[in-house]
Amino acid sequence: MNTKTIKHYLQFNDLTAAEYAYIFERAAFIKKKFKAYEKHQPLADRTLAMIFEKASTRTRVSFEAGMYQMGGSVVHLTTDGSQLGRAEPIEDSAKVISRMVDLVMIRTYEQTKIERFAEHSRVPVINGLTNEFHPCQILADIFTYIEHRGSILGKTIAWVGDGNNMANTWLQASEILGFTVHVSTPSGYEVDQDIAGLRSSDSYKVFKDPMQACAGADLVTTDVWTSMGYEAENEARKTAFADWCVDQDMMRNAKPDALFMHCLPAHRGEEVAAEVIDGPQSVVWEEAENRMHVQKALMEYLLLGQIN
Ligand code: CP
Ligand code: NVA
Repeated sequence: MNTKTIKHYLQFNDLTAAEYAYIFERAAFIKKKFKAYEKHQPLADRTLAMIFEKASTRTRVSFEAGMYQMGGSVVHLTTDGSQLGRAEPIEDSAKVISRMVDLVMIRTYEQTKIERFAEHSRVPVINGLTNEFHPCQILADIFTYIEHRGSILGKTIAWVGDGNNMANTWLQASEILGFTVHVSTPSGYEVDQDIAGLRSSDSYKVFKDPMQACAGADLVTTDVWTSMGYEAENEARKTAFADWCVDQDMMRNAKPDALFMHCLPAHRGEEVAAEVIDGPQSVVWEEAENRMHVQKALMEYLLLGQIN
């Protein structure tokens, strides 16, 4: 089997704007069927392996429920409960697991780890979050934006907080889908254009002051101050990020109809004020639900290609 021709989803830039247009349209179709209690089971007899090396609520539930709803089944592996935690090489794990299932989702640490897995996998591999990227989340976020406001082309997204996996993925998405990101991070936590895998700096602007980053934004978004794997830095980060809390003043500086998003889990009183995340501009619960609908469309696309 030629593993080079398999379509993986390891970064946001693994798909083109045209492929995203199809997936968003398909996600809307799949969501509508789900809401109407109509069966949609194109993945009958297909199996998804989910490998979690970090904790998860949304990613686990959305992939597992989504796969069952599409007629398939899932296998759930963790580092501790598998030989991954006993240093079996990732390449060997990829060769074995991908002989038994049709699709693999991995949440892990370094992006290089998922790339090595994909290189030796006979089946498509999906990034369920790495230190560098979280493409499934941005897929859901943009779908949620489109549902509420239409096309994201030409819009301005304000990123307030850490230059982390979410920030990197928003930046990749801005290059592919044609919008601008206003990025404001504390000093020492900036995005790195090379790590983010950007072609240029044309689609984003950096602001020292988070309030300025929010000016005129169509969407304001943030994430935890300390991502999984960086817990040892927690205390230093609490000091450094104190002014990077999305509050009502920041939301007032954005467009009057600006949306607020957060991938969750959230810490009220740290990266976001309770009045914002629980307020009228917040779409975080739909954003979380949409993980399942877009991932169903993604899994269908990776396994069956474009239908119709
Ligand atoms: N947003 C997100 O990926 O959530 P989980 O960590 O709960 O999967
Ligand atoms: N940036 C966060 C996202 C959690 C869904 C983390 O990596 O922990």
